[in-house]
Amino acid sequence: MGSRKTQLTVAVIGCGTLGTAIAAGILDPKDNKAYEIKRLVCTVGTESSQRRVETVFANHRSRLTVFTAEHNVSAVQEADVVLLAFKPFKRAEVFEVPGFKEALRDKVIISIMAGITTSELSRLSFGEQAVSKGEASLQSVRAMPNMAARIREAVTLYTSTPGTSKENIDFASWVFSQVGEAYPIPEKSFDICAVLVGCAGSLLLLAIDGLLDAAVAEGVRRPEVQNLVVNSAIGMMKLVPAGDHPGVLREKIASPGGCSIRALMELEKLGVRSAFTSAILAAAEKSKNMSSTR
Ligand SMILES: NC(=O)c1ccc[n+]([C@@H]2O[C@H](COP(=O)([O-])OP(=O)(O)OC[C@H]3O[C@@H](n4cnc5c(N)ncnc54)[C@H](OP(=O)(O)O)[C@@H]3O)[C@@H](O)[C@H]2O)c1
Repeated sequence: MGSRKTQLTVAVIGCGTLGTAIAAGILDPKDNKAYEIKRLVCTVGTESSQRRVETVFANHRSRLTVFTAEHNVSAVQEADVVLLAFKPFKRAEVFEVPGFKEALRDKVIISIMAGITTSELSRLSFGEQAVSKGEASLQSVRAMPNMAARIREAVTLYTSTPGTSKENIDFASWVFSQVGEAYPIPEKSFDICAVLVGCAGSLLLLAIDGLLDAAVAEGVRRPEVQNLVVNSAIGMMKLVPAGDHPGVLREKIASPGGCSIRALMELEKLGVRSAFTSAILAAAEKSKNMSSTR
């Protein structure tokens, strides 16, 4: 990829929730200085998903093709960059299709499959033997975005296979910067950091659900307070990147003899803090083992 605006064909293999969000980001980028998506080829599992993607991107019809999975190989063949965005458990099925691995050989691969390491990507693409003999060389980036990509507010972590060029890593970073913020991270800390950005949101949503139950118990309807609760939580959280330490902030909010300290003491009594820690550690453990579960 050169220093002038680079025109690229991108294939999204598995254009589901996240694939669609990322495709929307690069088709209509916030930063259009360096790259332009000349063509986007998407694949999905079913015809109903094919219609969904065609409808979502109706405005980009002239540079978009949506296929079902039987066309994964030709989609990859057409592309400069391939985004692997199907579910990790599907990987053997997708990679075992004759011609798929071969089609990937000279492409830049970006994988968002949770728990799939860059070595597993090399193994899938070249086979065990080639990897152990050091004959596998992939230009690939492993990334972990989150669902907020749908509103372009994701945090994405990424790492790359050794030997991946700076320009290819820069492109991957650009892709995820179109749907939020992108941060490079070493692969050794990927599992814990990935679950923090990928799963922690669902834990916090569970907390929100519990808070809303209290409103209902006190006779207030959930929809009346849902956005108030969520928006006040978002506002409070934003104080942290603005410079407030979370622990200090919590102490400031909990005034002597007040309501907040009572609520916090209740949560500590119920072991909520260590429950969050255990939940994330369990998720990180699962992430570490996913590449070896075939
Ligand atoms: N969800 C998250 O918050 C999150 C966060 C970080 C990373 N991830 C990772 O992102 C990836 C996508 O997650 P998602 O939530 O977007 O899943 P999703 O909505 O289920 O999307 C998966 C897509 O793959 C398609 N598909 C199924 N079989 C296929 C095949 N053989 N070839 C090509 N496409 C096929 C599905 O089509 P049909 O629906 O028609 O079968 C669907 O469009 C996963 O690997 C996940 O680990 C997810």
